[in-house]
Amino acid sequence: MSVLSTLFPRRNPTLPQNDNTSEQTRRHKQLNESQRNYAWTDELENVVGVPMATKVPYDEKPSQSWLLLVFDVGLQLAENLLAARLNNHRTNSKENKKLQGKLDNIHKQIQSITTLQIEHFDKPDADLTEKFIVFTKELLSQGSFSFEAMLQTFEKLCDDLDADLGDLDADLGDQAKTDEHNIDSLAEFRSLFQTIPLPAIADTFMDDQSFARFRVAGPNPMLIECIKSIPAKLPLTEAQYQAVMGSDDSIASALSENRLYLLDYTELDYLAAVPGEADGLTKHVFAPLALFAVPKGNSSLVPVAIQCGQDPATNPLLFPAEKDSPTFWGWQMAKFAVQVAECNYHELFVHLARTHLVLEAFTIATHRNLAETHPLNVLLQPTFYGTLFINNAAAKFLISPGSPIDQFFGAPIKRSQQAAGTDRLNFDFYANMLPADLERRGIADPQHLPDFPWRDDAQLLWEAIHTWVGNYVSVYYVDDEAVIADTELAAWTEDLILNGKVKGFKPIVLRTQLVDVLTMVIYTATAQHAAVNFPQRPLMSYPPAIAGAGWQVAPDEPAKHTEKQWLEMMPPLKYGMDQLNIMYALGSVYYRAIGDYRSNHFPYRHWFEDDSIIKKDGPLDQFLKTLKEVENTINVRNTTRISYEFLLPSKIPNSINI
Ligand SMILES: [Fe+2]
Repeated sequence: MSVLSTLFPRRNPTLPQNDNTSEQTRRHKQLNESQRNYAWTDELENVVGVPMATKVPYDEKPSQSWLLLVFDVGLQLAENLLAARLNNHRTNSKENKKLQGKLDNIHKQIQSITTLQIEHFDKPDADLTEKFIVFTKELLSQGSFSFEAMLQTFEKLCDDLDADLGDLDADLGDQAKTDEHNIDSLAEFRSLFQTIPLPAIADTFMDDQSFARFRVAGPNPMLIECIKSIPAKLPLTEAQYQAVMGSDDSIASALSENRLYLLDYTELDYLAAVPGEADGLTKHVFAPLALFAVPKGNSSLVPVAIQCGQDPATNPLLFPAEKDSPTFWGWQMAKFAVQVAECNYHELFVHLARTHLVLEAFTIATHRNLAETHPLNVLLQPTFYGTLFINNAAAKFLISPGSPIDQFFGAPIKRSQQAAGTDRLNFDFYANMLPADLERRGIADPQHLPDFPWRDDAQLLWEAIHTWVGNYVSVYYVDDEAVIADTELAAWTEDLILNGKVKGFKPIVLRTQLVDVLTMVIYTATAQHAAVNFPQRPLMSYPPAIAGAGWQVAPDEPAKHTEKQWLEMMPPLKYGMDQLNIMYALGSVYYRAIGDYRSNHFPYRHWFEDDSIIKKDGPLDQFLKTLKEVENTINVRNTTRISYEFLLPSKIPNSINI
């Protein structure tokens, strides 16, 4: 490793065993430095017990272009929030006009930022780049362009607005509607969407078909599994099954033909055990069981029965019901209980624990153990962009006391934190590699459950990444011996086991094993995170479709419930607005698509510099070509199925940064 390769570590990556003594000394020095910057702690506030970085090092702070994207989304939400509050007052007073002025201002800011982004990213020429730099400097000089400052600006805007509206309320002798709990109709939730579009789910979520689709194309396709027997805790009779599925079907034939699928939220029992509280109201998480079937000769799931808690003695079974049936509202309430469970399972486990927090460990271990000139450091770095920063922000602002998760999720915040932490530590790395996961859940064979968009598209992404990683690894590791001789890789593995507490992680001794491990890391940071992150905006921003808490208990006697009780399970409007804001924000930031390998800093040089990787028709070229083919395949699939776009490569960011 020459001095030049110290300056350009990505030009000629080397394995430690292939370096001479002085080169190895340089590697050690660089790693020692890096270890001072990237240190482990499992005592970070709000995520105690989870291996995290002690701090967010300078190099991990977000780029200006990322901040601009987030700022843009924040302004869209500010505009909508203001419009929604104005709408609630329905008055043409002077104050209203003043607020309308603020709204127009925000709109102008959005337009200017959007224009700058388009100019900057799509037509990068010197003039426009200069304009961007001037604009950014201006914002920086005002001290208002950091993530924290942005949050403060947004908060201040809301406070100002509250103050203005408070005056208005006093004048009108009225209480703002957003502060009331009682919801009269769904129209009130729909009216939260003023300047941002009402998501399509608002028109379909009450249908059983839409409820079933959540399992295979929603935010959490990770829980549904094919069952070989009906569990004892779900005492479904043949007569009950046939009442839903018809007398020509039976439990036995459905089981033998792999047509029965179960959602079992048993892991949520811990959250369901203790209700939460907000504004003097009690809120609940549920740990239901929901059974689905594929009707004979059909390809999609339909719901069969829901039991709103784990114990059948206290939780009766509820069954699908038509609008004119006396059990219709009980059935809608049962589905809502499942959706509350889904929201908690999704955000705390599938999203936070199994993507964000798992990647935190790999980010830290890579910086600590693989020198900058190590080929696997070069491969993985772009996959980690923004992760330490966003995870730190999530710990501080999303799951802290008083945070959104505290307010509109059901369980007391400490319990939610503990549940997420436990799930992260129980996440078995090898068992959750896509092929093993699909096999374990009995959903690998498309013959049994043909309509499963997430599974079908995820397999394309897994394969594409697996081939890219395989080609990359074979450039630097000539055989299995080279894997075993790599002392930095061995240290990386040991660090992930001991300090990263990655369950199931073990020494890597084969090239094929190394390829699987790296595929899992990159797939989790890209495709899997996109599949669970981006449904937040179209599917989770409308609270009647899915919410973090039930604000009433689950239904008991199926026939005694009313529409009013169903509406009472939904969040108070002000928490509904919080949910909208969070889900919309988290589901709107698309920074750098998979395969877009550039440095994050001006002038955005290409990340990979080794000719064996970037040569024409080399590994990177092939990967980019495959991603285009995957994009095309998914687009073609979407012409013959209900569109599922979360795994289009163009919509999968290259790292977890939101
Ligand atoms: Fe995320």
